[in-house]
Amino acid sequence: MCGIVGYSGTQSAAPILLNGLKRLEYRGYDSAGLALVSPEGIRVEKCEGKVVNLVNQLGEFDKIPSLGGATAGIAHTRWATHGPPTTVNAHPHAARPAGEEGNRVTLVHNGIIENYKALKARLEADGRVFVSETDTEVLAHLVDSFYEGDLVKAVTTALNQVEGTFGIACVAIDEPGVLVVARRGSPIVIGLGEDETLVASDAAAILRYTRQVIYLDDNDVARIEGPKVDICSLDAMPVTRESTQIDWSDDAAEKGGYAHYMLKEIFEQPDSIWNTIRGRMDSDRGNSVLSGLNVQPRDLAELHRVLLIGCGTSLNAGLVGEYAIEDFAGIPAEVEQAAEFRYRNPIVGSKDLVLAISQSGETADTLAAVREAVDKGALVAGLVNVVGSTIARETGRGIYLHAGPEISVASTKAFTSQVSCLLMIALKFARAARMSRERGVRFVKEIEAIPDQVREVLKQNDHIAEIAENYIKAESAFYIGRGYMYPVALEGALKIKEISYIHAEAFHAAELKHGSIALLTEELPIIALVPDGPGKDKTLSNVAECRARGSKVLLVATEGDDEVNDYGDDIIRIPAAPLHAAVIPATVALQLFAYHVARLRGCPIDQPRNLAKSVTVE
Ligand code: F6R
Repeated sequence: MCGIVGYSGTQSAAPILLNGLKRLEYRGYDSAGLALVSPEGIRVEKCEGKVVNLVNQLGEFDKIPSLGGATAGIAHTRWATHGPPTTVNAHPHAARPAGEEGNRVTLVHNGIIENYKALKARLEADGRVFVSETDTEVLAHLVDSFYEGDLVKAVTTALNQVEGTFGIACVAIDEPGVLVVARRGSPIVIGLGEDETLVASDAAAILRYTRQVIYLDDNDVARIEGPKVDICSLDAMPVTRESTQIDWSDDAAEKGGYAHYMLKEIFEQPDSIWNTIRGRMDSDRGNSVLSGLNVQPRDLAELHRVLLIGCGTSLNAGLVGEYAIEDFAGIPAEVEQAAEFRYRNPIVGSKDLVLAISQSGETADTLAAVREAVDKGALVAGLVNVVGSTIARETGRGIYLHAGPEISVASTKAFTSQVSCLLMIALKFARAARMSRERGVRFVKEIEAIPDQVREVLKQNDHIAEIAENYIKAESAFYIGRGYMYPVALEGALKIKEISYIHAEAFHAAELKHGSIALLTEELPIIALVPDGPGKDKTLSNVAECRARGSKVLLVATEGDDEVNDYGDDIIRIPAAPLHAAVIPATVALQLFAYHVARLRGCPIDQPRNLAKSVTVE
């Protein structure tokens, strides 16, 4: 969740590192820092807050030889795990032997060193002095304690004593121009340039400079010097890793004229959904073509159950998958929060298919659940957006979302691509079981119609912005829906909580009256999902119960359905569609609603407090 950038080459490193940090800021942003290596030494600059504070602190760095002249360096944005977000706790952390001055070994780190207390006690006994509360400073001292002029050797020796997770980038005073990077559980990508090499925890940071990249595997250590990259294992055996070409354009990761990444990503959805389904539908056979999933009809005949695991928004998408797989394929399906799955010793085995759903492919809880499912012999597949991410690689089979980079902390286009994938999976499984070709052909059309339906919702952006004005004073809101609309309610409530800081809860519409209805007042609005289809009338009855208690009601309803008119104070219309497909336009309507409420409340939409884009700690 923190961000790492590194550079070794012929250009001035500082602007490249700062640019990379800006691109990574969404991953964590309570402090930022960099270390620049020049013949004059290692200069460390760090500060609390955003990258712009660091830029201001550096001032006109091109005029300062130790900054402008440095052609190698490392940088970091931090999201605190050990120690509060202060300057002293910010990365990089430098170390030197007891009694000496200056920065000898300096590093940045993502992850958690679990045995840092024991290591720290040992290093303190050797007279080493610590200035921060971080586990990272312990790691810097540990590496330094083994440093005798060979940084790779010092790093591998140190990491062999470490328990926990790390992605690190490290420099040393005696080896200017050399970066050593390593990973276990926290991603590191190496970008290959002509006479330079970049490193980052996320490819978005370096796409401007190169598209040819190597993803390190767990326990890889790489020595980088200008364009030269040598990779070895933690036991110092050389290893070869193939490079790959990234096709995401740099532009795709910019805001593209929108006020926020979130809005840009909401508006990208007709394209991102199309990218997800493109080439994966066979309209003649009424089926989907998901070769990466590599699940054959004969495997399905043996299957006991499909388990869908994920966290947050990905978990909500999983619930749509559960409903659709049971509904159409008749295979028992269950959705489960990834950390629960891991720790409650689930009954899962070789007849179960586990679908791990993750935008980033790096979420610690989901990754741990994947490993648990693999250990228990289940068939495990990933639904992942970030190509080359850990979950994508460890599952070995699955479907890439192809939604493009999602920069906004609040997930939008990843959700709609996840749901699109899950509908395609439901179709494939259904066709192998009881669904007719004819129904399959219609199902394909229903999925292919979704991007246009989303376009229709996006056209109502101004109307939704006006509606949002009526809800900005709420301190709490309830979202209700039934069947396929229940996961939409969950996702709508999550979005508004994250970005507008309004407390929100989602309920199965029928559940409200079993207790929570006691909370209803005129100040607590209801957002009800009532598109035309099974369950609509029942939900409208629940809406009537709420209105009778003075609640203001916002409805999401089908275009032209006048039956609902008397039930809502405000209505957002979505095109007519079967409910499994209506999930997506209905969610987009609630994404826009949450966005405008947050904007009108003056919230920092792309960088909500306490949140980071990818949660790589448990
Ligand atoms: C909400 C959000 C989070 C993520 C969750 C899982 O907007 O983004 O709830 O969905 O942290 O992340 P991934 O999908 O990367 O595993």
